[in-house]
Amino acid sequence: MDIFKSTQSVGEIVSIMPKASEIFKRYRIDFCCGGNRLLMDVIKEQKLDEDEILKKLDEAFEENKKVRDNAKDFRVMSPSTLIEYIENTHHVYVKNALPELNELVTKIMRVHGINHDVLFRVHKLFSTLKAEIEQHLIKEEDVLFPMIRDYDKDPSKESISLIDKALNELENEHEAAGDILKELRKITVDYKVPDDGCGTYHLAFKKLEEFEGDLFQHIHLENNILFKKLGIDEIKMY
Ligand SMILES: [Fe+2]
Ligand SMILES: [Fe+2]
Repeated sequence: MDIFKSTQSVGEIVSIMPKASEIFKRYRIDFCCGGNRLLMDVIKEQKLDEDEILKKLDEAFEENKKVRDNAKDFRVMSPSTLIEYIENTHHVYVKNALPELNELVTKIMRVHGINHDVLFRVHKLFSTLKAEIEQHLIKEEDVLFPMIRDYDKDPSKESISLIDKALNELENEHEAAGDILKELRKITVDYKVPDDGCGTYHLAFKKLEEFEGDLFQHIHLENNILFKKLGIDEIKMY
């Protein structure tokens, strides 16, 4: 599974997967002050083995995911632990998948759009989805999740009303993202690739379908488990 690429900056990789810092330390790759540099440039400069480093990063990502998957009983997790899980698995996945999908979707539109105009619509829908999800993750990571973490430590009526307000907006965004995914599935007739579709066409549709599956699970965890855990409906009855 190709998770990381050498065209990403060193800092970006560590922000996606904090564990990468351990690998970089081993190779004496500076990820603090030199975080803006692309991994490929550092590799070239320090004469390192690119395949070996990328493999180590991908393995660490998979390992991290496995440990988390094994430990999951979402219903008994505290809201803060569930948030950590969501950020480390689903948010990391989305941040990696969006640029990759963007490239694929644009490429197949350019090559096959003339014969399959559905690809222009796929590109447009995906671009809207990408922009919306990027903003949505920022709102969760910078606003909602810190509020829930604070509430977890010190539950107060004031903090729950702030959370409640933010939740409504984010739940609407979940619905909007879900609608775009449903539309994508509909117009592509369940991601069916035409006979003249090339390997990239197949890959793009496979990855879009994977993205759909991940996002639905992600939204499920937030809407149905995390948000419910806060018991806002019960609290509002008092
Ligand atoms: Fe999320
Ligand atoms: Fe969300």
